[in-house]
Amino acid sequence: MKLIQKSGSFNGVKLPLIQAEEARLRLIKAGILLKSKKIFNNHEFVFFPISDSVSASDVLGGLEYQLVYHIFPEEFLKPSVLDLLKKEFPNEPWDNISIKFDQIGEIGLLRLDDEITSREFRTSAGSAIINAYPKITTVMNKLDVTEGIERIFPIELLAGEEKYESWHKEYGVLIKVDLRRAYFNPRLAEEHRRLALEISRGNRILDLFTGVGPFALHCAKAQNCEVIAVDINPYAIKSLKASIKRNKLKGSIIPLVGDAGEIFRTKRHFDRIIINLPNLSINYLEYTSKLIKDGGIITFYQFMEKIEQPEQFLSTIISKKLMNVCNHEILNIRVGREVSPSKIQLNVDLRISSV
Ligand SMILES: C[S@@+](CC[C@H](N)C(=O)[O-])C[C@H]1O[C@@H](n2cnc3c(N)ncnc32)[C@H](O)[C@@H]1O
Repeated sequence: MKLIQKSGSFNGVKLPLIQAEEARLRLIKAGILLKSKKIFNNHEFVFFPISDSVSASDVLGGLEYQLVYHIFPEEFLKPSVLDLLKKEFPNEPWDNISIKFDQIGEIGLLRLDDEITSREFRTSAGSAIINAYPKITTVMNKLDVTEGIERIFPIELLAGEEKYESWHKEYGVLIKVDLRRAYFNPRLAEEHRRLALEISRGNRILDLFTGVGPFALHCAKAQNCEVIAVDINPYAIKSLKASIKRNKLKGSIIPLVGDAGEIFRTKRHFDRIIINLPNLSINYLEYTSKLIKDGGIITFYQFMEKIEQPEQFLSTIISKKLMNVCNHEILNIRVGREVSPSKIQLNVDLRISSV
């Protein structure tokens, strides 16, 4: 990573990757994360741009943070896509437009409401992004929510090459993505990495809803472990097979096409099981608790309506599901991300032991 010295007027904080999500949530809650600048990571640390370094010290108490003054990765200094578009198209009704942007390899993926914005504006926005960010050669717009069993979404091409497949890089892991045919969300990168850092040599891992395999690839890249990666979507598994060939993995991955609820029967086999089908993960707890070794960990992701104390609510459901099945200890339960204004995703780690 290239660091450049610049006498800028904003500050940042730097934290180890493993603490980044906790820090991000605290900075947002305190209202001091600068949304107009990019969060940046260099595979080891995450850099957050902040508006107030004094409050940051209070907010980040207990975490291993460092304040960084005037030294920022080059990417920090680029305008965000929102700033860029506001500047280029000042007459659009920005107060009503919600916008999200992700970069997946060379593809820029916008989420611009097609009922509020005109096709003409969206196309111009796509071209403006390609002009400002030379690494982006295609801009698409996600037209609707992720739906169906394969969790795919409809997209429209806005500018650049008509290209749906791309190689995306997360913390040095190359992931083949096929936006038209298989689910992928680059916003899960930190969670993919967090899990990989918790895996030990020789671990056996079951990644039940692997998609194009980011959890599996991160784990096998970080550690000499064995991952069984299952998805019902053959296109997702095809992408994973391409990624297995492309990465230098320390461990091994066995990619399987099939129904996660049917495919595996071997009891007490795995050290870690990942359940990432967030609208239904909770329904797989009982099944996976029989596949995991005594003392093993189930990591799962669950969508929930935004309510007061969602962690407590979910803990109660978990206890009911596993009552009379196994003992469990909740190692970690936290809000991972906001999925929509009314929906959140909870991230949970459970240690399982037999009754
Ligand atoms: C949210 S995506 C998983 C994403 C992936 N773990 C990641 O981090 O990018 C859910 C995946 O589950 C798959 N899926 C849905 N129902 C399934 C089932 N019954 N058995 C296996 N895979 C299934 C979908 O094809 C989709 O790829």
